[in-house]
Amino acid sequence: MKDRKRGTFSGKLGYVLATAGSAVGLGNIWRFPYLAAKYGGGVFLLIYILLAVTFGYAMIISETALGRMTGKSPIGAFRSFGGGKLIQAGGWLNALIPMIIVPYYSVIGGWVCRYLWGYLTGGAALMADEQMFTSFLASPVATEVSFLVFAALTMMVIFGGVENGIERVSRFMMPLLAVLTLVVVIFSVTRPGAMEGVRYFLIPDFHHFSLMTLVSALGQMFYSLSIAMGILITFGSYMKKDVDIEGTTIQVEIFDTLIAILAGLMVIPAVFSFSGGDAEALGKGPSLMFVTIPKVFEAMGGAWIGILFFALVLVAALTSSVSLAESACSTFEDELGWSRKKSAAVVSIILVGLGTFSCLGFNILSGLTPLGMDILTFFDFLTNSLMMPLAAIAICFLILRITGIEAISKEMHISSRFRREKVYIFVMRYLVIILLLVILVSSVLEAAGIIHI
Ligand code: PFF
Repeated sequence: MKDRKRGTFSGKLGYVLATAGSAVGLGNIWRFPYLAAKYGGGVFLLIYILLAVTFGYAMIISETALGRMTGKSPIGAFRSFGGGKLIQAGGWLNALIPMIIVPYYSVIGGWVCRYLWGYLTGGAALMADEQMFTSFLASPVATEVSFLVFAALTMMVIFGGVENGIERVSRFMMPLLAVLTLVVVIFSVTRPGAMEGVRYFLIPDFHHFSLMTLVSALGQMFYSLSIAMGILITFGSYMKKDVDIEGTTIQVEIFDTLIAILAGLMVIPAVFSFSGGDAEALGKGPSLMFVTIPKVFEAMGGAWIGILFFALVLVAALTSSVSLAESACSTFEDELGWSRKKSAAVVSIILVGLGTFSCLGFNILSGLTPLGMDILTFFDFLTNSLMMPLAAIAICFLILRITGIEAISKEMHISSRFRREKVYIFVMRYLVIILLLVILVSSVLEAAGIIHI
């Protein structure tokens, strides 16, 4: 194992930007709206927010503090406290998750590239045709090429180490994305029939609640806030001792949730206005954004808005995929002592292999449906509903059984007033494990076809 000198973030702003860059991505814009549409609208949103301010808050604090305390990435951080083999496996699990996510994340990134290209060359009317998306997915060449473009962009940053460049770009692209999203929201919610959608999304109706609402909201919260995948432990290890962990956590959570809500307000009212609010329209799943948003853009009258929107989403997606790939690379560098080049090459191979597999799941391999899902959805389910709850259990176990909650409190008090310490302790002691077990058991039973949630 190599002991490299660790870099640090320049300060609070550097940390917030890196964490927000990692957090805000396709999860907010693509994944959140389709889950909210499918699993209950307002109840989904309510449960999501409740989970984010309790569970999410506690997890971000735990991971960041563990990282800063040990100065290590997940495997090293878990190892530095001793603990049995099982606990150590928790570190590996945290490190493994990004390697599985980054390939399918890049496949969706490829869809974004395809749409950007489409707006640049084909115009708004062409992209608004529903057939466009279906025939795109049916073509192995088109999906693979788009995926490779996105994967190459990600790996260029990793190989070239031009993180500074991407940080500088995202510094003004992120606020621009928020402003543009707001413009599209205003247009979207003023379409005829859209108000029904606003109501569906914002007002909780408990008739729409199912266990799946809870399971998917929790998975989404992990995904969106980049929790339980080692990222925040690594970021914490780069953090200086005087940066206020509590304050930065709250800022990141608010920004991430706001973008998700805006994306929901952009997509869901448009579904009601353009496709009706019936269960079939709402339950479209991963294709939802790519089918409804182009209709809004066509009504807004022009390809320019499509170009701008997909360019901004592309940047948001890239900052996230780079942080995923970076975390995978640093695991190889730290644990196996590989050079950066070798690590990046191995990550590229995994990325292309698993990503291609996901692409083909929509065409050549469409007969292959593990647990009744296409391959991309299967990887998504595997990481979000099974591996992340397990990784989160490992983190909680480490804190409750080995380091002790006091150790985290102590680390927090170095730089924060830790006003919500009581909430933190309550959530860690009582809420987290119970909730995680409920989620995990129901996901497993669902996967085995024993219950239908
Ligand atoms: N949080 C990102 C999103 O919502 O798109 C996804 C993600 C990025 C997860 C980076 C994990 C990560 F390390």
